[in-house]
Amino acid sequence: FGREIVYYDEIESTNSIAKDIANRYPEGTMVIAETQKKGRGRLGSEWQSTPGGIWFSLILKPSIPLEYAPRITLVAGLAVAKSLRRFGVDARIKWPNDVLINGKKVCGILTEVDAEVEKVDYLVLGIGINANVRMKDFREDVKESSTSLEAELGKPVNRIELIKDLLYELEQQYIKFKTQQFSNIVSEWISLSDTIGKEVTVTTPVKIIEGKAVGVTDKGALLVKTRNNTREEIIAGRCRYAKT
Ligand code: BTN
Repeated sequence: FGREIVYYDEIESTNSIAKDIANRYPEGTMVIAETQKKGRGRLGSEWQSTPGGIWFSLILKPSIPLEYAPRITLVAGLAVAKSLRRFGVDARIKWPNDVLINGKKVCGILTEVDAEVEKVDYLVLGIGINANVRMKDFREDVKESSTSLEAELGKPVNRIELIKDLLYELEQQYIKFKTQQFSNIVSEWISLSDTIGKEVTVTTPVKIIEGKAVGVTDKGALLVKTRNNTREEIIAGRCRYAKT
């Protein structure tokens, strides 16, 4: 990954650029920007992208059925968590795609897919890491629940070293995803999960499910055991932890 790099000082969104150029650039191309004016978050939210962060998108061409696309988000979360841990923080993954340190969000992942009928044509993996973002720059509504590597480590992180390590780990996990059974990735994901074992409320477009997160399925869905003892499989949604 990262053999081709497209760099901008400032751009609307690296995910948008990556989508625009995906058919002209090879798999593993990285689009990276110092700041984004219209960084996109999940479920239509805005992703604040001030200087000091690491805002990038990778172009992937995995030729997998569309229904397997959510797996890529888990693969990416695992890779980011593993890489960040090597820089000295206790990074854990909150289903489906946040990486947390001490319960606060340090990284968000936005996967966007372009599919022809049922097969993935290309996929854009957008990753935002609050590396050396200043705490005072966070928007009021996310300040409490966010953190940066700099804040956690007490000193700035070397972004070049971190990007190199991230690209390496993302490529390793992607190769594993393509060549091994997904259950191998799931078990490693679970070992670094912040979500499994917790009481959660998951909101999907059609319903709200409350219960205990007990596992992740082969498709990347969260398994929740509800109070009346049914098991729900949730492929996409917003997950909140119950207040303790
Ligand atoms: C989330 O809501 O948690 C996902 C945030 C994803 C942000 C990254 S930053 C690089 C890439 N470009 C975007 O516009 N969004 C993603």
